[in-house]
Amino acid sequence: MSIQEYQKGIVNEKVESYLSDLIHSSDPVLLELEKDASKRHVPIIGPQVARTISILLKPARPERALEIGTATGYSGICIARALQGKGKKLTTIETDPNRVKEARRNFQKASVSDYVEILEGDAREIVPYFVNKNKGKFDVVFLDVGDKTLYVELFKYCISALRVGGFLIADNTLWNGAVAVEKDTSPETSAIRKFNQLVFSDKRLDAAIIPLRDGLTVALKIEE
Ligand SMILES: C[S@@+](CC[C@H](N)C(=O)[O-])C[C@H]1O[C@@H](n2cnc3c(N)ncnc32)[C@H](O)[C@@H]1O
Repeated sequence: MSIQEYQKGIVNEKVESYLSDLIHSSDPVLLELEKDASKRHVPIIGPQVARTISILLKPARPERALEIGTATGYSGICIARALQGKGKKLTTIETDPNRVKEARRNFQKASVSDYVEILEGDAREIVPYFVNKNKGKFDVVFLDVGDKTLYVELFKYCISALRVGGFLIADNTLWNGAVAVEKDTSPETSAIRKFNQLVFSDKRLDAAIIPLRDGLTVALKIEE
């Protein structure tokens, strides 16, 4: 595959447009955030990935979730809406103070702010400390931090945060197809390749990559 080819994306343009016509959000807050993201280029997961995560999580009846990379709260709202039980709680981490403010407003608009906690700061510093205090407590960890080189560094904490039977979900794991282009040795592409190797060689995980949009890893923690 040439670099020109992979820059077009991993899903054929016609299929991508077919999927966009078919899969819509019905939630007004999500629709508003989709419009805003497209206007201001906020890199949100979008309706197809949101729907996939939601369908995966709802029957698992998750109670506690950890998200790394909040942005304006779009994926956080989808995850929060899938949570169930008295102790339901989403903890989400974001370094950009303006995005933290926007996410806080959006969680309120979506009526999920009572059970969403935003930790503001660098995931590199927050995650090790936070996970050491909350080992095995999470039913789902969603890794979507903007600095993709952090995926490798944060992997061990994501696994340690999860209970057996919990899901690790990570976005952008095909990196627009760049992972398959050997001559692409950029720090992000190399980090995502390394992350994929870690996921697929870890005996505690049963994993798959869904080639949807930019690649979505879904991994079930099957043993401690
Ligand atoms: C891809 S966006 C998250 C999108 C969001 N999950 C959604 O779909 O609605 C990645 C976010 O990670 C944040 N980020 C980048 N580096 C970070 C770091 N070191 N610690 C915490 N957040 C970081 C960026 O500011 C950005 O808002």
